[in-house]
Amino acid sequence: MRKNLVAGNWKMNTTYQDGLALVSEITNMVQDEVTGSDVEVVICPPFPFLAAIGKQLPENSRFHLGAQNCSQKESGAYTGEVSARMLQSVGCEYVILGHSERRQYFREDNELLSQKLKAALATGLKPIFCVGESLETREADDTFKFISQQLQEGLFHLSNEEFDQVVIAYEPIWAIGTGKTATSAQAQEVHAYIREQIAQAYDAEAALNTTILYGGSANAQNARELFSQPDVDGGLIGGASLKSRDFTDIIKSF
Ligand code: PGA
Repeated sequence: MRKNLVAGNWKMNTTYQDGLALVSEITNMVQDEVTGSDVEVVICPPFPFLAAIGKQLPENSRFHLGAQNCSQKESGAYTGEVSARMLQSVGCEYVILGHSERRQYFREDNELLSQKLKAALATGLKPIFCVGESLETREADDTFKFISQQLQEGLFHLSNEEFDQVVIAYEPIWAIGTGKTATSAQAQEVHAYIREQIAQAYDAEAALNTTILYGGSANAQNARELFSQPDVDGGLIGGASLKSRDFTDIIKSF
């Protein structure tokens, strides 16, 4: 079901100790300051901290635990990999898949990502599936075509029931970690397009019910404007999720 959601993607940052301190600041601030809003919050720390941070999240609250990646394999001799089942067993409910950094630095393509999606969904994890164009693609006026291809190849092979579990994050690569945010109009335009594509691939109801997040240099200053767009349901936050004050202010932006 469509909801307001803010996910913090810590990427490869913090130590165990700093991570625990950060999450305790965030949960305290949010519990004190965020009232009268049903926004859900997903915290996505690095793998080694997941279990401990999950235990620090207040039970039956707006807080949920997410991972930043998972293996497409179920189990076995895959040195260094982390399976969806492992993530689920330490309390993860969500997993980010298809982040542009994974696509770019670890050569994850739509084919591999569709296997990862299947693995996550088979275990009951909710994927946060990322799409987004490079600056080159945007300047060539190919944004819609590119996003459509990512959706078709990466996501739209899922059944209706599987697709129901998916959150989509639109993250223009040129806006990630650059301080250059998409304007709210640019974000809205692509979010509306994504919803249209969902309606075509599934149906109008699926399109209406899908949570679509914006990501890319979202911060406490621009979140309110971005989240006020009709097709923007929240944010996937990198840099600003590492600062409790900023992250809480973003969560308060609804
Ligand atoms: P950023 O990262 O907020 O630091 O731009 C967003 C993301 O990569 O998910």
